[in-house]
Amino acid sequence: MAYDFLKNLGIEDVNSGVWAGEWIKEPGGSVIDSVSPITGDVIAKVRCASKEDYESAASAAQEAFEKWRMIPGPVRGQMIREMADELRKYKKDLGALVTLEMGKIRAEGEGEVQEMIDICDFAVGLSRQMYGKTMHSERPGHRMYEQWHPLGIVGIISAFNFPVAVWAWNSTIAAVCGNSMIWKPSSKTPLCAIAVQNIIEPVLKRHDAAGLMNTVVGRGSEIGETLISDKRVPLVSATGSCRMGRRIGEVVGKRLGRTILELGGNNAIIATADADLDMCLRTVMFGAVGTAGQRCTTTRRLIMHKDIARDLTDRLVSAYGQVPIGDPLDQATLMGPLIDRAAAADFGQAVSMAREQGGSVIYGGKVLEGDGFKSGCYVEPTLIKADENMKIWRDETFAPVLYLFEYEDVDEAIRLHNCVDQGLSSSMFTLNLREAESFLSHRGSDCGIANINVGTSGAEIGGAFGGEKDTGGGREAGSDAWKAYMRRQTTTINWTTELPLAQGIKFGD
Ligand code: UN1
Repeated sequence: MAYDFLKNLGIEDVNSGVWAGEWIKEPGGSVIDSVSPITGDVIAKVRCASKEDYESAASAAQEAFEKWRMIPGPVRGQMIREMADELRKYKKDLGALVTLEMGKIRAEGEGEVQEMIDICDFAVGLSRQMYGKTMHSERPGHRMYEQWHPLGIVGIISAFNFPVAVWAWNSTIAAVCGNSMIWKPSSKTPLCAIAVQNIIEPVLKRHDAAGLMNTVVGRGSEIGETLISDKRVPLVSATGSCRMGRRIGEVVGKRLGRTILELGGNNAIIATADADLDMCLRTVMFGAVGTAGQRCTTTRRLIMHKDIARDLTDRLVSAYGQVPIGDPLDQATLMGPLIDRAAAADFGQAVSMAREQGGSVIYGGKVLEGDGFKSGCYVEPTLIKADENMKIWRDETFAPVLYLFEYEDVDEAIRLHNCVDQGLSSSMFTLNLREAESFLSHRGSDCGIANINVGTSGAEIGGAFGGEKDTGGGREAGSDAWKAYMRRQTTTINWTTELPLAQGIKFGD
């Protein structure tokens, strides 16, 4: 195998894709290839989970939960602290694997591992801060309070675009809350999941918690369906498309389970007449071109005031012309490939539909061919002048396509901003207090994240992450997102010899 980091991470030519308290030697599902979008070459093979293998993972998780829930929160936190230590050691290697298997550039691959480390640190602190409230009872000699208990097994379904960080948002918080878990990573990035499981293996073992964090690689239609239908899994936290989220919501809702859904985005930046254009330009570049447009927080629409639209558009065209596209393992590259050829075909389709609908492609628009682009997954970062009558920009195309709009007054900009089905992240670039505050007001942005002079992507883990409308309503990571991983119990204790009833009811006395 050509890359040292693969060896360091324990990746072999053929890997088990099932951890059920230990690696299952020969899982019974199909064997899939992990293909690097950089070259189109197979990196390694992975044996997927069969239904029986899933069953082993679920039993391991159930057994681990029964022990783990009785471990004090701060002691659980210590395990997460040790996980963070391991991740720090493997930051470079795991970051490189994210790049190789998913295609994002090195800085972003390592950034993703840093995001794992950050959420570990957050979870360690949280392990001592899962506070409940005390209330004043209306009855004398009664004490009322609420406490938080773990839920059980948490199902984590993650997407290819953040193949390790999103698992960490969920697993670290779920673990300090006292839950065990089963992870179904994207079948496009199984090696990242296997590497993570290898990195944390010694920590889990040291804490006698080998079955706490399990992994099952497999198809959504088989293993995903099994997981979401499983009554033993009270919470499913899923990241992916709106279509996938609707299916999960339906199946889990039917059995009255809970979900945390983090689905599609259609994020916009509004650039007002007095925006700092230098800052805005740099932010749009990171938001629209970064990760080759494959973040759920990617900037997909730029809504510009007519007075600055021309200037900003010219600057964008010139900056787009200077983006080094190519091998993301090369430090000089700023934009790597899309995840696979199907994604490149979707990109091509979106561009031609935009043209048909009256949009004008002012930069890019092509799938790249020739030397260095043999995998067929490289595309040009693309700028399209759009108008409200077009339909294509209402869909999330997971590619670096930025639609440009113009507006005259801020209410119009906000209406245009909010007129899509998705509601994840949003931003306004302005130095005007009135416009900034109206963007943040009740009649402003309808998204889960709303920023001023900060782009739509690259959120910190300390805040709750997620969005409204078709984005699914879930919140992960920081703030009080932990509450979704626990069940709340309201407790009333009577320490007197009387039995007063609430609401002053007299019953038979
Ligand atoms: C995602 O694309 O699913 O805010 C997550 C960001 C990253 C997370 C993105 N911290 O862009």
